[in-house]
Amino acid sequence: MKIGIIVHSKTGNTYSVAKRLEERLLETGHHVTVEKVTVEDDKKKTEEMELLSRPNPEGYDALVFGCPVWAFSLSTVMNCYLSQLPAQDSKAAACFVTQSFPFSWMGGKRAIKQMMQLCKTKGIQVNQTGIINWSNKKREDQINDLVDKLSQVLH
Ligand SMILES: Cc1cc2nc3c(=O)[nH]c(=O)nc-3n(C[C@H](O)[C@H](O)[C@H](O)COP(=O)(O)O)c2cc1C
Repeated sequence: MKIGIIVHSKTGNTYSVAKRLEERLLETGHHVTVEKVTVEDDKKKTEEMELLSRPNPEGYDALVFGCPVWAFSLSTVMNCYLSQLPAQDSKAAACFVTQSFPFSWMGGKRAIKQMMQLCKTKGIQVNQTGIINWSNKKREDQINDLVDKLSQVLH
């Protein structure tokens, strides 16, 4: 299966989780590409943002979206990317966020809800989600769990 992992990552945390997932999916025989959404100025409002790289999800059989939590929401960059995405054919999808606060109720859950809602408006049904709390003592376990559960739905 061709799997696209499409991430926004400003400081590398989300990207590092994406690479861990990529590693696992490659081991299980998938064809995996990690692509980054990038922007000229991430301080602009979502509606005024200009994306420099806008990965095309069309060639993939399954998709994973990942981004950081910003201000108790999904990052404005991922918001911009998903909002501008054309409607997609239905395919397996998952999404995850990373956040600095130690617990998921501190913005992570809200960001995931927003991502799922945006995906839904584009015809993408999200089957699995995950939240990594970067300052949580169990971060490593969280990453392992996320890789396990996402790789299970992407087959
Ligand atoms: C503008 C901005 C806003 C942020 N807001 C939050 C927040 O509301 N809650 C939180 O837990 N972390 C917040 N963070 C921290 C990031 O979510 C966290 O460090 C994340 O893992 C960074 O991912 P990245 O390295 O892929 O960019 C914020 C970071 C930035 C730059």
